[in-house]
Formats: sequence, structure tokens, C-alpha cells
Amino acid sequence: MSTLITNIAELMTQDLEHRVLKDAAMVIEGERIAWIGAAADAPAADGAVDAGGRAMLPGWVDSHSHLLFAGDRTAEFEARMAGEAYAAGGIAVTMNATRATSDFDLTRLAMGRVAEAVSQGTTYLETKTGYGLDVEHEARSARIASTIADQVTYLGAHLVPAGQDPETYTDLVCGPMLAAVRPYVQWADVFCEEGAFNAEQSRRVLMACRDAGLGLRVHGNQLGEGPGVQLAVELGAASVDHVNYLAPQDVKALAASWSGWDPATGTGHRGTVATCLPACDLSTRQPLAPARALLDAGVQVALASNCNPGTSYTSSMAFCVATAVLQMRLSVHEAVRAATYGGALALHKETGQDADGERAVGSIAVGHRADLHLLNAPSATHLAYRPGMPLTYAVWRAGVRAR
Ligand code: NIG
Repeated sequence: MSTLITNIAELMTQDLEHRVLKDAAMVIEGERIAWIGAAADAPAADGAVDAGGRAMLPGWVDSHSHLLFAGDRTAEFEARMAGEAYAAGGIAVTMNATRATSDFDLTRLAMGRVAEAVSQGTTYLETKTGYGLDVEHEARSARIASTIADQVTYLGAHLVPAGQDPETYTDLVCGPMLAAVRPYVQWADVFCEEGAFNAEQSRRVLMACRDAGLGLRVHGNQLGEGPGVQLAVELGAASVDHVNYLAPQDVKALAASWSGWDPATGTGHRGTVATCLPACDLSTRQPLAPARALLDAGVQVALASNCNPGTSYTSSMAFCVATAVLQMRLSVHEAVRAATYGGALALHKETGQDADGERAVGSIAVGHRADLHLLNAPSATHLAYRPGMPLTYAVWRAGVRAR
């Protein structure tokens, strides 16, 4: 079954040539994109959809979220708005509420959050464990996450639970807990920050997880300058996320990690993506991550929601894009790219073999997965020009209309 989507005012492909087509059309066939081009040249298809002069983008790729949680942290947010600083300790509040929640309810809550994200144009998402923090509950979170998200990250190293010795807990994360989550996860992450895990503990966790065959990600440089970025680059992590406080040598290391990569062909040696989380920066009143400087230095940048109950209770990628344009000084094209292709790069999904289940996401090109986001606006510029407006008009995920 093929469908022609025509009368697209602007088709922002985010492909390797960065093409933006005007008065365009596309054909999707099953789960894949089969054709794109000028509306006047469109081939026939089994069915047709009139995009009504709207703008089409790739679906958002949200490469950083924490959707497996229960409980509420409104009081902590209120205290923060009244002047208190964010501290990692709030994670324990969510850990207690999450442990006390049944499998059924935890699944239902997480599924509801995925549905919210999809309804706003997210078509591919990663989520993390990290609110279980013992073997039983981390394994449960990983198992449930694997049923609701596209990719799952093990974040047993989110916080050392109260009363536990940090070294002993790190051993647990590297040993029995890792073994228990391993069947369900593709990635491992560590919160490398004062008050969470120090450089040595973080290194230990990352190396054990790498030995177990997992790809690596790091929460780094969120609350102050620290070793997170350097560690991520040294160990070849796919991304380092937050990156609010960067020393010049951190930016240099991130840029150098991409020196063997050819952005024109999307081939070569991958570096470490810097994932900026603007909704979190605003919600914690941290300085915004220096996305402009990172791009100017040649770093590959992603934008993600970081949806979680403590620091960023939103899954709105459109909000992140608007903030990146209005406050971080990215162009609309750069911000949309970071929220689509950039996220896919951070999850190693920007290319595919065109075999079932291996299709690329995050850009619109023939053979890629038909993950599409039709805006109720004639151009993507409206995402920043009309911030906060509900601009999602239609969503296709793997060729299926999801909204
Ligand atoms: O990415 N920084 C660490 N983890 C989450 C916040 C977790 C929480 O406070 O519940 C984040 O911001």
C-alpha cells in the first residue's frame, strides 16, 4: 500500500544535503519513504493525502528521557522557583515512589508519557532506568522500558541510595545489577557529577558496561565543570548529555572527537554527540548549554527533552526547539536538525541498512523509516515564531498514522 502526500509547502528533509524543498510531495510505502520531490513530478500511489500547504519535518528523535517513574516532585519544583538549587538528592524521592508502584501502574504511567510525546511529533525515543536503584527494581524498569521505548539505557548509576557505601553500590551496578538488566538494554549511562558518581566510579561503571557489550552515554557537566565530558570522549561514548558548564578543553575534546567524521557523507569515525537539554536548563535555572559555541566548534549537537519528574517534566521537543532558537541562538534549521538527525546520531540510528527494523530515522530520504511530522503551519520557522502553540497537525510513525 503506497500513499502520496502532496501539497507540502515546505519539506525540511534534514538529509545529508540539508535539502529544504518547496511545494513538495512524497510517497510512503509500508514503513518506508519511497519517493520525495516536487509536487508537480509526483508519481501515482494507491492513496493520497493533501497536506494543505503545511510544513513537513522528520518526526522528533528524543534521545534522552527518563519515563519510568511514579510520584510527584511539585514541592521540589516550587522550592526551586523560590530560590533553592537543584541537587541530585531529589532522585531518591522518585526512587521510593517508583519502587512502591505496581508493574501495571508503572507500565501505564510510562505508556501515557510515550503517548504524550508521540502526540507532539516524537516518533523515536530513548528512555532510561534509574529510579529503581536496586537489582530487582532496575531490572523491572529495564524490562518495562523495553516494551514502550525504541531504545533503553541502563542508569543504575543515577544516585547512590541513602545509607549505602558508594564503592559497594558501584560494585553492584557493575556486577549483579548489570547482569539483571542486560537482556533489556542497549546503552549504559552514569550521572558523573558531584553528589552522584565521581570520575573513578563513573569510569568503572562505563567500562564494565562496555565490556558487557553496551554502548555508552554520560550525564556530564550539568551542575558544574567536571570530568564527565572528558571521560565520555575518552571512552568513545555516543553522547554526553547536559553540557552546561564547559571548559575550553571540553569543547576542544568534543570537536576533536568528530575530526574523523565526514558530515557530507555521514561516514567515518564517530565522535561524541553533545546533547543539550534546554527544558531542563530552564526548569533548574542553570545557564543554557552553549549549543551555539559547540556547533561553531564543529561538534555534532542533539536536542532532547530529558523528560523526568525532577528537572524537566516535559516531553515537548517543539519547546526545546523554540528555546534553542530564541535563547541559544541556533537557526531554525539547526535546531530542528539537532532534534531529529542529531538525536538519531546520538542513538546510532541516522543510517540504516534498509532492512526491516534497521531503517534510519531522523531525516527524510528514500529508504528511511517514514517517521513524519506535519505542522499546522506553512514553515518550520513557526516553531520559534509561535512558541508554545500546538503546531503538530499529523504524525506518521513507520508509515502508520499516529495522530
Ligand atoms: O537528567 N541529572 C540527572 N538525572 C536527571 C534528573 C533526575 C531527577 O532529578 O529526578 C536529569 O536531569
